[in-house]
Amino acid sequence: MSQDDNSVKPWGGRFSEPTDAFVERFTASVDFDQRLYHHDINGSIAHATMLASVGVLTDAEKNDIITGLETIRVDIEQGRFEWSVALEDVHMNIEAELTKRIGITGKKLHTGRSRNDQVATDIRLYLRDEIDVIAKELTRLQEGLLFIAEREASTIMPGFTHLQTAQPVTFGHHLLAWYEMLSRDYSRLMDCRTRLNQSPLGAAALAGTTYPINREQTAALLGFTQPTRNSLDSVSDRDFAIEFTAFAALVMTHLSRASEELVLWASAQFNFIDLPDRFCTGSSIMPQKKNPDVPELVRGKTGRVTGHLISLLTLMKSQPLAYNKDNQEDKEPLFDTIDTIKDCLRAFGDMIPALQANKEPMYESAKRGFSTATDLADYLVRRGIPFRDSHEIVGKSVAYGIAENKDLSDMTLTELQAFSSTIEQDVFEVLTLEGSVAARNHIGGTAPEQVLKAISTAKKELSER
Ligand code: ARG
Repeated sequence: MSQDDNSVKPWGGRFSEPTDAFVERFTASVDFDQRLYHHDINGSIAHATMLASVGVLTDAEKNDIITGLETIRVDIEQGRFEWSVALEDVHMNIEAELTKRIGITGKKLHTGRSRNDQVATDIRLYLRDEIDVIAKELTRLQEGLLFIAEREASTIMPGFTHLQTAQPVTFGHHLLAWYEMLSRDYSRLMDCRTRLNQSPLGAAALAGTTYPINREQTAALLGFTQPTRNSLDSVSDRDFAIEFTAFAALVMTHLSRASEELVLWASAQFNFIDLPDRFCTGSSIMPQKKNPDVPELVRGKTGRVTGHLISLLTLMKSQPLAYNKDNQEDKEPLFDTIDTIKDCLRAFGDMIPALQANKEPMYESAKRGFSTATDLADYLVRRGIPFRDSHEIVGKSVAYGIAENKDLSDMTLTELQAFSSTIEQDVFEVLTLEGSVAARNHIGGTAPEQVLKAISTAKKELSER
């Protein structure tokens, strides 16, 4: 990066001394906003095209501008472009370089435009492309979940409430719960995209411009559905960045919850799953260790994305209309959110389909902790005993089981009948884990049949995206 005096600055005219060297660095954003270059150039090309069609530029001038911008794009892509801190940001760097390359015509590009509507346009375009990448990653992860859920549709594991054994569930059902969280995330992302997809270009500094611009044209050229409706709002609005970051914080929260379960399940104490070695690392001191670093890191990275959401909300909360330099602070939280969520979705998308379920330990664990106690209570209700009484009866039989170290299904019929004479031989059908899960056979229930139905509905949903 080179530093120059004020003569290079497009706004240098009214200034009588060069910018303080520290202030120059302090106010510059080019270190981080250069990643907007591609969309900045696309926005400029649309603007120049429109200026030519309304007669503000000649066709020859427009063509020179476009050709110049395209050569700059190539140079940036090939790492040949020299960014200057003195030129503050990506917008002024590219514009100054354009003028260097094509001469006086370059100075006409900024007619009827301001960096305020320019940067608002650039971020929307950039984020829109990233949203499309993230949407694909989300879908890939959901496909991975369906793949494992189908394979494990009738694999039995303990279901928990309060992390205490509650009732048996199928592993496929548990994975489909994660799938549902991500489906809601996907629909939130699409909502965000819809509201984001409007063009602020033409709002200029804040009030609009005196040139006969055609905002519909630039909106259409850039793939926006329509121009934004109020110029003051257009240059100051960053709701789309907040909405996106809120979406991301919630996805990360979901991935973090799943990570927590993966970490627990991969422990020797649970031993429900095996994560492939390629997603784990070892310890430099303890030779036996295989650590679930990937889910741990995803869980850890959730904090920074939630932090970015708070940063952006706080950034906006006291800003008067319209644009303020504060807004330059929107970029780092937003960019880091995008990078983080892409990495985390990728990690999960690769890891989930490679996960192995340890059926035996899952099954054995589901048998412990009286997980079919509710099934016994329901059995008694079907035989005419009021639920509160059957709850009491089963509670007593559980207490007996704890004292005798016996599960309900390990007790003899005579032992069970000591608690209620209505119990008969057929009780053992409901006391098995298989009987328990199969009996919950309704929409949203854990029965393998319902899991398979839910998977086929989900596959249809994904195919319609
Ligand atoms: N780098 C600035 C930003 O990111 C661009 C807009 C600057 N506008 C201005 N009037 N100083 O917000």
